[in-house]
Amino acid sequence: MSALFDTLIRNATVVDGTGAARYRADIGILGDRIARIGDLSADRGHNEIDLGGRVAAPGFIDAHTHDDRALLSAPEMTPKVSQGVTTVIGGNCGISLAPMPRPIPQPVTPPLNLLDDSGEWFRFSSFAQYLNALRERPAAVNCAMLVGHTTLRVSTMDDLSQPATPGEVAAMRALLDEALAAGAIGVSTGLFYEPAFAAPAQEVIEVCRPLKQYQGLYCTHMRNEATQVVDALEETFLIGRELGVPVVISHHKVLERSNFGRSVETLALIEKRMGEQPVCLDCYPYTAGSTVLSVSRLAGADRVLVSWSKALPQFAGRDLDQIAAELGVSEAEAVERLSPAGAIYFKMDEGDVKRILKFGPTMIGSDGLPQDASPHPRLWGTFPRVLGHYGRLLGLFSLEMAVHKMTGLTAQNFGLKDRGVLREGAYADLTLFDADKVDAAATYESPTAPARGIHMVLVNGVVVWREGEATGARPGRVLTHSE
Ligand code: ZN
Ligand code: CU
Repeated sequence: MSALFDTLIRNATVVDGTGAARYRADIGILGDRIARIGDLSADRGHNEIDLGGRVAAPGFIDAHTHDDRALLSAPEMTPKVSQGVTTVIGGNCGISLAPMPRPIPQPVTPPLNLLDDSGEWFRFSSFAQYLNALRERPAAVNCAMLVGHTTLRVSTMDDLSQPATPGEVAAMRALLDEALAAGAIGVSTGLFYEPAFAAPAQEVIEVCRPLKQYQGLYCTHMRNEATQVVDALEETFLIGRELGVPVVISHHKVLERSNFGRSVETLALIEKRMGEQPVCLDCYPYTAGSTVLSVSRLAGADRVLVSWSKALPQFAGRDLDQIAAELGVSEAEAVERLSPAGAIYFKMDEGDVKRILKFGPTMIGSDGLPQDASPHPRLWGTFPRVLGHYGRLLGLFSLEMAVHKMTGLTAQNFGLKDRGVLREGAYADLTLFDADKVDAAATYESPTAPARGIHMVLVNGVVVWREGEATGARPGRVLTHSE
């Protein structure tokens, strides 16, 4: 007797997300789940897709995003679905849209302005309200959200240049507890940034006490990623040990020429601590970073590209030195005139990027900034670039390992149940791609080009991307620690 599936994918090369070797099979989907994997040549599907040997992989999970607002304001999520991403982890680097129980300061405190420089989207007084909004108007992709420590500081403190008082710590802890109860999967800090830099480790520990009870994660844009990177790593490990929770080192890197090559040292330390406590890390496949534009960040950059400017929007996408020349002012003065603004800074060594990407436990996270007028190409290109440029062309890892770093490993680290692997019973989040063609098309010059080689993308059994176009379907769900 032959079975009838909702969707039947024939002749797939299955790369299942666990790191195991690829194999040929058909995949039968019923509702939002994978019902069968095997020889289904005698079976039928309402919707049939013949892959002719192309790859079927679990949908990619973006371990590090700033999609908090895009999920609501651009729910088709084209920069993500076009590269095969089916789940995003949001609320990173200390910045989340919620909770914001009092009016956000104007102008919006950087780096919160990376999410929304108008302030209009900081409208959710509780995290529960924010998650409800995501559920009421679902996006094309699934999401799991972190609470930003900087958001907690801005929503409870009057003087961000100081450590929090005991009363402020208690207020932040209460907000975090509410958020975790509502379904946040952990907390993020951005101790590198001005509004959180004054927070000592002890403040973070006291605010984050509720994490353990909810099995939440501690994710961090560390205090330092340059000369003091080892101190910052040790601070991260200490916070994780004190809290008794896993830590995630966000977008691991070493910045500035004098530190080039030091990933040998940081990865050795990370590996050592992994033997003692739960430690995770993610990385994006580029030698430039992107964040707010400021004079203090110009030092040590080989090149600075403006990604957005509120004051002079016409300069988005241009080099800062050219803008300064055109305005007839110094670079510092140009920064002044462009602000508030964002920039792309070239401060990393290719050897370090490769070493960190190749490191077994490293997950892939884009750190893309979807609100930028001329974004860093990581927003549209991260996952295909890892598969194509670093995997197929440079041979940094096998296709199976590359896929594992963006699926099974990430789902396991973030506790996303029945996702990140292709097996019977798992959710039908799938990316179907051409392993010989897949690569990023987005570049610094042309940053919003959809990737090459992504054939089709399904989220919870529903096709969201087909042959270079979004279908308009929005089957995404909010994933919480209990789902
Ligand atoms: Zn960051
Ligand atoms: Cu980030």
